[in-house]
Amino acid sequence: MTASDTPADQLTALEAAAELARLSALIAHHDRQYHQWDRPEIDDAAYDALVRRNQAIEAAFPELRRPDSPSLRLGAAPLAGFRKVAHALPMLSLANAFTPEDVTDFVTRLRRFLNMGEDEPLALMAEPKIDGLSCSLRYHGGRLVQAATRGDGTEGEDVTRNILTIDDIPKELPGAGVPEIVEVRGEVYMNRAEFLAMNQRRAAQGGETFANPRNAAAGALRQLNPAITATRPLHFFGYALGEVSAPVAPSHHEMRVRLARWGFPLNEPARLCADAGALLAYYHEIEALRPELPYDIDGVVYKVDRHDLRERLGFVSRAPRWAIAHKFPAEQARTRLKAILVQVGRTGALTPVADLEPVNVGGVMVSRATLHNEDEIARKDIRAGDTVLVQRAGDVIPQVVRVLPELRPADSAPYQAPAQCPECGSLAVREDGEVVRRCTGGLICPAQAMERLRHFVSRDAFDIEGLGEKIIAAFWADDLIRRPGDMFRLAVRDRESLTPLRKRPGWGDKSAQNLFEAIEARRQMPLDRVIYALGIRQIGQATARLLARNYLTYDAWRGAMQAAADREGPAWQELTNIDQIGPAVAADLLAFFAEPHNLEVLDDLAREVRITAFEPPVAVVTSPLAGKTLVFTGTLSAMSRSEAKARAESLGAKVAGSVSTKTHFVVAGADSGSKAAKARELGVTILSEADWLALAGGGEPA
Ligand code: IVH
Repeated sequence: MTASDTPADQLTALEAAAELARLSALIAHHDRQYHQWDRPEIDDAAYDALVRRNQAIEAAFPELRRPDSPSLRLGAAPLAGFRKVAHALPMLSLANAFTPEDVTDFVTRLRRFLNMGEDEPLALMAEPKIDGLSCSLRYHGGRLVQAATRGDGTEGEDVTRNILTIDDIPKELPGAGVPEIVEVRGEVYMNRAEFLAMNQRRAAQGGETFANPRNAAAGALRQLNPAITATRPLHFFGYALGEVSAPVAPSHHEMRVRLARWGFPLNEPARLCADAGALLAYYHEIEALRPELPYDIDGVVYKVDRHDLRERLGFVSRAPRWAIAHKFPAEQARTRLKAILVQVGRTGALTPVADLEPVNVGGVMVSRATLHNEDEIARKDIRAGDTVLVQRAGDVIPQVVRVLPELRPADSAPYQAPAQCPECGSLAVREDGEVVRRCTGGLICPAQAMERLRHFVSRDAFDIEGLGEKIIAAFWADDLIRRPGDMFRLAVRDRESLTPLRKRPGWGDKSAQNLFEAIEARRQMPLDRVIYALGIRQIGQATARLLARNYLTYDAWRGAMQAAADREGPAWQELTNIDQIGPAVAADLLAFFAEPHNLEVLDDLAREVRITAFEPPVAVVTSPLAGKTLVFTGTLSAMSRSEAKARAESLGAKVAGSVSTKTHFVVAGADSGSKAAKARELGVTILSEADWLALAGGGEPA
């Protein structure tokens, strides 16, 4: 037995001190991975085990508690990049319960602390514990003025501009009797279905995918550009109040009613419970409901309902005595990893996937698990033939948690990423600074070509109904569709084919005719959709639209892209001057145009399809500025006052000349004077010129 396995109370003082030092450093590391980088390396249960071990040793050796003990700190210090915000009241964490005894002990402790008689009622509110990020929202005079992440509990990051993009969050609190200062706390999260769809979109564009909704929500909230946050499907639940200038409610259930009236979504189903038995019944009901909830939960929270009792109960170290989180066990199972397969995406990204001996994980059969990328495999040292622990993170995407090294076959060898694409044999390379390995085969790689064709016909691209994956593969095999232009010659070639579509299994005259008509209906297409349909790396719908809006016609765009190859010249300047198109996106565009094969494909398509000029859509505005009243003051350096005004109006904002309580934002340029002072006095949000540019640039007519 080593010191790290010895029960806490059997350690020598020397061993205990060494264990506490080791745990402090280890927990700090995992805190940083989780809070700062959104890349947890261990699951919650393993993390909790470390924290509990630390607590147990501290309980046995209180004099050895370290000044940097994990029980004295919370989370990680904020990242650079956002303004720091000191919380008016600390944002605490919760103590955990894992067993029914932990829950009965909790209720017994409460009653004892409050010196309650047998018959005295103690109402507890039980709520689902959403797996997201906690956030504080400050309202002054009923208007949202500041939003902050938890950070280390004392100081978080100012994410106001990002929070403004979340529809669930009321920007104003309606009705009379709203205290001057109200701080609402709650959880920012992502729905599972929206998370999956977003990951699919990212994968289709060759981007990195997120491991789970929590990481995705964290990534979205910590974007320095709120325009990016706005494109991510974030939601919010309110579950507590922070600072309030006047009492809002005497109990938690009444507070929930107020929050709902103010427009906050609440985490449901919540229930008032009278004793530990009722709490446990609730726990089991929610556990059974878990797969059906649209969002991930990692347990339930029990809270004393009456606020006056909470006041008396107070806090222990960094958690309230009046609440506890009852965690669900992670759904895990062990199985054998038969092989590490490699999938090739549309942009050539090679993704390793675990091929597993099928196993039941919490009611679902799992035979594949994501391995993310080769670094992840190396870090966990996952090998073919290993027995592994598989987990359904957030109930959806199975993951390999770790290897059971004691069961490893003697002849196993570390994983070697393929040097060649498994689909086409072209070189697969990993560029400096990239986590992803890519096939260099381009369109000669069938995986990429077929994926690209699929993307080409997808709804937001050419939207050709009936041309699904299987039929593309069949036409590919017969050499009938190898590039997008081929689709428009299909009807003619099919007539001459020995295996015409109508004679294939599952097809008839009518369905074949329908497909050809669906293709024919797409002989005319606006430039932005054509650009998007090409499936160029990093060029999603929004970027395609930016390009089309800037260059207007196909010929102008094509010419400009070729000319931009000269990075000293004006075409490159113009391209990178487009708001939101940085050098990285520009480089991917140019890489596409540098490949003669791509130009052939493009020109071939342009011969078949009439590519129409970009038409600005009628403004249905989704900008965070829509419907808001703005006042400009001081001198802006990037644009004139009239341009700024026009931009604001095009995004659906009203521009006013003076600051009043009706003003939502004051944009303060250099040398702003009395208007900025007035704004501060009224608690109106003041935007710097940089803030304004980020918001104005982000607004995009839908
Ligand atoms: S009450 C004093 N209620 O879980 C802390 N927290 O592990 C008050 N969480 O930091 C928190 N759902 O981010 C509360 N219904 C809920 C919750 C909830 C999720 C999060 C919250 C908290 C963390 C603690």
